[in-house]
Amino acid sequence: MAHRWKNDLSENDVTPEHVFLTRRSLIGVAAAGLALSGLGQKARAETLEPTDWDDITSYNNFYEFGTGKKDPAKYAHMLTTEPWSVTIDGMVERPGKYAFEDIMKKMAVEERIYRFRCVERWAMVVPWNGFELADLLEMAGVQSSAKYVAFETALRPDEMPGVARPVIEWPYVEGLRLDEAMHPLTLVATGIYGKDIPNQNGAPLRLVVPWKYGYKSIKSIVRITLTDSQPPTAWNKYAPNEYGFYSNVNPNRSHPRWSQEYEQLLGSGLFAEKIPTRMFNGYEEEVAGLYEGMDLIKYH
Ligand code: MTE
Repeated sequence: MAHRWKNDLSENDVTPEHVFLTRRSLIGVAAAGLALSGLGQKARAETLEPTDWDDITSYNNFYEFGTGKKDPAKYAHMLTTEPWSVTIDGMVERPGKYAFEDIMKKMAVEERIYRFRCVERWAMVVPWNGFELADLLEMAGVQSSAKYVAFETALRPDEMPGVARPVIEWPYVEGLRLDEAMHPLTLVATGIYGKDIPNQNGAPLRLVVPWKYGYKSIKSIVRITLTDSQPPTAWNKYAPNEYGFYSNVNPNRSHPRWSQEYEQLLGSGLFAEKIPTRMFNGYEEEVAGLYEGMDLIKYH
């Protein structure tokens, strides 16, 4: 469907609590009686109007399926997501290849409504379903020597038409500092609106780091490696002065091609309202402490 923009994100645009709760129970998440951490609750206290399912799932970046915004929705069905496993290795107590179903049996899935902000300046509000990355890492047992977490996307030329072109170096890789990875806001998403996450959004599991630009939120993960050195990241390898390792949303540090002063909401039409970018994408209170004393222009 056509990509629409909607003028509906503002501080005033708060869904009344009862409507919000109804929406939650409608999608069956509240009914499941799942755990909700204090921080999750806090992040959700600012109730936002979620972006439409059609917009979230039809305007994507997933270059393994092509560089067009509609390519992922068109081609990602080619990706076989069952069976799926994630290798967790490096500095962990229990390295291994973990089957997706076994992971899901151990993880507490909850709903998190997060802002999501692409460096290209489009933004959305997504009702993710998922679990905290910290819980997955604790399952594998992080060794005290580990300082970073590296992530890798599946690389399957037979199922991914986009990887025939060397747009970036495949496989897509990403990384976080260990404290960022262990932060309670850092989510592994397995669903949207209470449904399994569609392939174009990174099935069967993808990272969501809401205070960083969207490219940190790596899709269709097959490997997670605990390491003591800063891991390479796909976009930093491509253009280091454009894309740093940290990639925190920051209105004061412009990308060379896109000023980051404002963003526009997906689904809000061609003449979408320009909304000022917020430091850490609005999660400053929760995450600023991770970067105390750091020069966030230098370490962008
Ligand atoms: N992960 C992989 N493996 N390949 C990609 O091309 N694109 C990133 C990120 N994760 C990408 C990826 C970028 S640039 C963005 S903005 C988000 O995914 C988009 O997520 P969405 O399509 O679910 O909105």
